Amino acid sequence: MTSVIKKKAKFNTLSVSGVKKLTDDSVEVSFDVPEELQDDYDYIPGQYVALRATVDGEELRRSYSICDIPNKGTIRVGIKKDLGGKFSTWANEELQLGDVIDVMNPQGAFTSKIHVTSLNDAQNLVDSELGQVENPNFVAIAAGSGITPIMSIAQAVLKSLPKATFQLVYSNKGGADVMFADKIGDLKDKYPARFAVHHVLTREQRVNPLFSGRIDDEKMELLLDQVLRPDLVDEWFLCGPFELVQMCRDSLKERDIDEKRVRFELFSTGDPKSAPGGNAGRPVIADPKGKNISIQFQLDGLSGTIESPVSAKETVLNAALRARPDVPFACAGGVCGTCRAKVVEGDYEMDENYALEPDEVAAGYVLTCQTRPTGDCITVDYDA
Ligand SMILES: Cc1cc2nc3c(=O)[nH]c(=O)nc-3n(C[C@H](O)[C@H](O)[C@H](O)COP(=O)(O)OP(=O)(O)OC[C@H]3O[C@@H](n4cnc5c(N)ncnc54)[C@H](O)[C@@H]3O)c2cc1C
Ligand code: FES
Repeated sequence: MTSVIKKKAKFNTLSVSGVKKLTDDSVEVSFDVPEELQDDYDYIPGQYVALRATVDGEELRRSYSICDIPNKGTIRVGIKKDLGGKFSTWANEELQLGDVIDVMNPQGAFTSKIHVTSLNDAQNLVDSELGQVENPNFVAIAAGSGITPIMSIAQAVLKSLPKATFQLVYSNKGGADVMFADKIGDLKDKYPARFAVHHVLTREQRVNPLFSGRIDDEKMELLLDQVLRPDLVDEWFLCGPFELVQMCRDSLKERDIDEKRVRFELFSTGDPKSAPGGNAGRPVIADPKGKNISIQFQLDGLSGTIESPVSAKETVLNAALRARPDVPFACAGGVCGTCRAKVVEGDYEMDENYALEPDEVAAGYVLTCQTRPTGDCITVDYDA
């Protein structure tokens, strides 16, 4: 059995091998991975890639979850146009077959802890931290583009675990907004007894009122009581807007469902201050006469040091980027986890954390995009 390995975040330029319209405002984009890079682009169902492109003269980085079952040689993502969103609008309207853009190798921990696979091999199970589960029952609650990682996870577990069941609650404004409608239909046909989907439409009336309107506390309670049978669920996946994910987590907690069984991924915090990209890498000038903090970091075996003025209240990521532009980051908003490093020495505070598990935080790991030193110096290790 192979163990799951965390790969070092690194961009490579890949070419677009397909752009397929999924709905009026979403596309599936495929990238060709050349043979020499295929090991680096192995992934576990549920992981994402960061894309980097220059749009209207501005360099943008955004994360997109991989939507397909592990497939050597191809990375496939689903991008939904965010109203007023720079990258997603560009990807939906301008990105074309044959274009080349920078794609980071897959990252992220929104993966099954029951069906833990070795990288890029959905059949090859590794030890599960939840123990052996003979016939696992999975439930996913997704909204809008939050379906993307779920597509990868659902296809992988249904294919490789012959007795697994998967229930999907998928919320959209209307039927025309359902991303991957064909693939969801294929899963129903292929696994009629093991896969079920419950579409919840917020702006269209369905026959059963339970499946119309927003998923709020009350609807969640009804779904749990009448549809999902929480006592039989081995693992939960929640992916969508911040409010939905938080509400679902709270409801599951109130029912004493062990947090270890609940995976969640946020695509944004809903807070404009933590918009993707943030102000990572903004210029800050160290004042040789003023009070500075010494920020040391280790990356790819090389160490770097940079002085950061106390008055700038800079994050470790921002400072490190001034010394080395290849320091890994994607969202700069505390949601993706790409900028993770271990604090070796020094005091600090971390603003937001929607990506690290409590045991990682306890072991000294931080999101460097959210971490500010509170003493005279700090040393972090991106290689740890
Ligand atoms: C781990 C992870 C996985 C993800 N996976 C997917 C995926 O599979 N599919 C997908 O479609 N998305 C995914 N996302 C979200 C994606 O990364 C982008 O955040 C999303 O596409 C929006 O980017 P954008 O450049 O289009 O919008 P941005 O230009 O960044 O704007 C985002 C939103 O904020 C608003 N906004 C921008 N600036 C301001 C401001 N100053 N004040 C108020 N509002 C403002 C915009 O109108 C827009 O609605 C994922 C995110 C993460 C972290
Ligand atoms: S870059 Fe995404 S959490 Fe820091």
